[in-house]
Amino acid sequence: MKIVLCGFMGCGKSTIGRVLAKTLKYKFLDMDKFIELKYKMTVTEIFAQKGESFFRQAESDAIIEILQNENVIVGSGGGTVINPENVELIHKNGGKIYFLDVPLPALQERLKRDIRRPLLQREDRKEFIEKLFNERYSIYKNASDLVVSAGAPIKVVVKTIVKLID
Ligand code: S3P
Repeated sequence: MKIVLCGFMGCGKSTIGRVLAKTLKYKFLDMDKFIELKYKMTVTEIFAQKGESFFRQAESDAIIEILQNENVIVGSGGGTVINPENVELIHKNGGKIYFLDVPLPALQERLKRDIRRPLLQREDRKEFIEKLFNERYSIYKNASDLVVSAGAPIKVVVKTIVKLID
C-alpha cells in the first residue's frame, strides 16, 4: 500500500500523514523534507537559488525514489499533483492519491502567519491563497483516487481514512 496525500498548503498532509502512518504501522515520508535532505537546502533556498522549475523537477524525481518503498504514506507538496505527469508517475509506481479537502477559510486561517512557504511570502497573501485554491481545487479532485473531507480534528480525519482503507 502506497498512499500519497495531496491537497493545498496547510491541509494537513504532513501532520495527518504522520499520525496515519503510525496508526497503520507504515513509514511516513514527506516530499519537501526528502528534497531538503537530498539537496541539503530548505525549500525556500531551492526556490531562491535554483528556481521553482528546479524544485518541480526535484519533486518528480522524489516521487519515483519515495515510491520504491512499500507500505508508505507520502506527504506530497501542495503543487505536486498539479503537474499531470506527477499524477501519472504516482500511479505508475503503485501509489494511490488521497485528497485532503479542507475549506478555503480554514486554510487561510492556518496559513496567515506562515513564514516557511516561499509562495506565501507576499502582502496579498489571503487573496493569493484564494486565487491559487480556486485554480487548483478541481485539479486535486480530478487527480485523486479518494477525496477525504479533512477540516475536522486530526484524529477524526485519520479514523475516517483508516475506515476507508479497511
Ligand atoms: C508548494 C507547497 C509546499 C512546497 C512548496 C510549493 C505549492 O508544500 O512544496 O513551497 O506549490 O503549493 P506544502 O503543501 O507541504 O506546504
